[in-house]
Amino acid sequence: MQGNYRALWLSDAMFDECLEVIDQRQLPFVYDTKYLTNTQEVVNAIKNMTVRGAGVIGSVAAFGIYIAAIEVDGDYEALCEKAVLIRESRPTAVNLMWAVDTMMEHLEGSDDVIEDARAFAIELNDKEAQESKKIAEFGCDIIEDILKKSGKTKINILTHCNAGWLAVIDEGTALAPIYEAKRRGIDVHVWVDETRPRNQGASLTAWELSQSGIDYTIIADNTGGHLMQHGMVDMVIVGADRVSANGDAANKIGTYLKALSAYDNGVPFYVALPMSTFDFEIDEGLKEIPIEQRSADEVVFIKGIDAEGIVREVRITPQDSKALNYGFDVTPARLITGLITNRGVCKADFDEIKEKLRG
Ligand code: MRU
Repeated sequence: MQGNYRALWLSDAMFDECLEVIDQRQLPFVYDTKYLTNTQEVVNAIKNMTVRGAGVIGSVAAFGIYIAAIEVDGDYEALCEKAVLIRESRPTAVNLMWAVDTMMEHLEGSDDVIEDARAFAIELNDKEAQESKKIAEFGCDIIEDILKKSGKTKINILTHCNAGWLAVIDEGTALAPIYEAKRRGIDVHVWVDETRPRNQGASLTAWELSQSGIDYTIIADNTGGHLMQHGMVDMVIVGADRVSANGDAANKIGTYLKALSAYDNGVPFYVALPMSTFDFEIDEGLKEIPIEQRSADEVVFIKGIDAEGIVREVRITPQDSKALNYGFDVTPARLITGLITNRGVCKADFDEIKEKLRG
């Protein structure tokens, strides 16, 4: 596997080869990794968000099939049962189902399920890394264009949640064009939405950008609209967890409000994604994309580091408050300026997606 940064890699630290992943629950306070050595550990890591982000969930699932193949000693029928468990570990990001189905189709009839699973998981992941590179280039061309037309010397980009290399190998989706902008010498500043309830923006995107020396400012989730009204945002780029055939895009909860605000203020709003994030089985995302509901505890408790350097979780609500925790929302295609994909930039429109992107 290639690249400077990876959220996961194969490791021979255990008896059998296993998967080593960055424990994203502990960032930005502690950098730690976990070994995934069997199907249950893979499923748990996806469910409890040790690993997260649509692309990385798919990557872990692909390698999860390899780990499961070792566990069942290469028996394809037994592997099918393990595959179902991995496939059902989270509902919204379609990269998960895509990765499991693609792996299982490839392995059907194989003479050496274990070796083939290993080789194909590596191949899929390397392909994903190449796609991220293309997204970086196409997205950065747009950044250059917007900057040129604005007559300014610095571009302000707002992003929501984390769609960097922790979410999609090798450089992410929404953040990939920003990394490319830095390489091209563009003066870029990123407004990072904190992204309650789990704060993927404040903890993960901020951590990634600081590692890369990119200028950023964390903002409370409700700040973006105000900044847009005052000309302080030149464009928005977000990632996606599932995009339907008509271009409706599911992404982390709160994305829709940013899109509304961008639309009202004439700020270009782009969604960046690889082909594995499209779900062409679904025509209208708004009606059909399954939206994950997570534990109310994620809303009720918040994690941070205290003055003594101890990481603690504290309650921020009255003792018996009810809380509701939808993980994602769907931004309708009409609010999206364009989709930045590895196959090029395209309108969020059924016919154009069909003509330009569907093979
Ligand atoms: O719940 P998560 O952290 O797995 O959510 C996924 C995301 O990080 C976002 O929705 C992201 O913007 C898209 S992932 C490429």
